[in-house]
Amino acid sequence: MSTLSQFSLKFRDRSFVPLLQGGMGVNISTAELALAVARCGGIGHISDAMSPHVHDLEFGSKLQNEKLQKFRDYQNKFPKPGLSWDTSVVREANRRYVAQTMQRRQGDGAIFINIMEKLTMGAPDETIKARLYGALDGGIDGITPSASLHIGTLPLIADHPRFKEVLIGIIVSSARALKVFLRTAKRVGRLPDYVIVEGPLAGGHLGFGLDWPEHSLETITSEVIKLLRESSLGIPVIPAGGIFTGEDAALVLESGAAAVQVATRFTISKESGLPSNVKQKYITSHEEDVVVNMTSPTGYPMRMLKSSPSMTSNIRPNCEALGYILDGKGACQYHDAYEQTGVDEKGRKLPVTDKMCICYHFMKFNCYTCGHNVFRLKDTTYKLSESEFYLPDAEEIFSSYLDGSEIIAPSREAVSEVFAGPVAS
Ligand SMILES: Cc1cc2nc3c(=O)[nH]c(=O)nc-3n(C[C@H](O)[C@H](O)[C@H](O)COP(=O)(O)O)c2cc1C
Repeated sequence: MSTLSQFSLKFRDRSFVPLLQGGMGVNISTAELALAVARCGGIGHISDAMSPHVHDLEFGSKLQNEKLQKFRDYQNKFPKPGLSWDTSVVREANRRYVAQTMQRRQGDGAIFINIMEKLTMGAPDETIKARLYGALDGGIDGITPSASLHIGTLPLIADHPRFKEVLIGIIVSSARALKVFLRTAKRVGRLPDYVIVEGPLAGGHLGFGLDWPEHSLETITSEVIKLLRESSLGIPVIPAGGIFTGEDAALVLESGAAAVQVATRFTISKESGLPSNVKQKYITSHEEDVVVNMTSPTGYPMRMLKSSPSMTSNIRPNCEALGYILDGKGACQYHDAYEQTGVDEKGRKLPVTDKMCICYHFMKFNCYTCGHNVFRLKDTTYKLSESEFYLPDAEEIFSSYLDGSEIIAPSREAVSEVFAGPVAS
């Protein structure tokens, strides 16, 4: 049986460990996590989801508050045409965050950025262009567009001086979606450097309908490989979704893929941005606690734990400060759900259960999005006490994928460090 360490992923003249840590917004895949993966020789993704918010946290700015002051008058209006992010603010937020991350990069790996098209920010084309330009200006190694077909994305950045130099990929959940992307790519003379195939067991938003159980990562991957072969395109294919162990990863590479992308295993890493108590919820979850529902106002299904506070909240829309999902007309599906939800006998708003205010709840880590295999995380670590599990660091998780071991066995040193004393033999 082979192991991941026997393979490598090649981009132009560089070789990488064929393991990508997927983007996890909002700031679950922190710069610290991506940097740790890059130090190990793999590819770590940061995410630019709600980057002005992340910029406020990282640099002590008040970008969201300034926007709130500017658009205060919109508070009781639905929809909110004209409420959008200033593109120069967005571009600079991405540039500075990326530049700071890139300055800290060490090792042989790379840092990519995950850019979701569905974060339309009140001005879809203008703000995605600003986000892409900011990332390119900041020196990012690679861009992974996700959450939509990205038909217009490449032409938006074709004029940037780094357009040919930066690595560019695409996330698809079908060969059909890839065909659509390839058509524009050919038009701008810039084919993708890699294709990530995200299957139905992934975390975050899914590129399927509620019929997701009828799809399989293996089938879609082989359809994508066939399409590329028939088109004589030697683009590396990288499956994602449910690849949980080193053994899973090695099998995927043996079957013709160039690398794997994983995320759920890293959610509980020390470097992940999730609060510690949420990491413990992930570890102690059971399979029946996981649901795929339509509460995201993007219109895509999303996988999460049923205990997510976002599913029973009645928060009023916070678009004046946030507004990351507003479309070009100032609308968001949460507005309708909020307005249509009634009040109790004391006049208090009832929980809004159809949709969530995704900006607010992601900012607060109240939506516990996860891959299907989240319930297996408990097998990757060990108990410190009745209510607490050990949180591995990113390097431990990375190594367990590499050496083909079933799952992380805690090292004696790690245990001894946790208990601040030597372990009895
Ligand atoms: C907590 C979490 C958040 C995620 N957020 C995003 C995201 O913001 N954008 C995206 O393209 N994919 C997102 N994903 C998908 C991952 O990048 C990845 O492709 C997928 O989850 C891999 O499957 P695995 O989690 O079973 O390893 C997320 C996944 C998780 C677990």
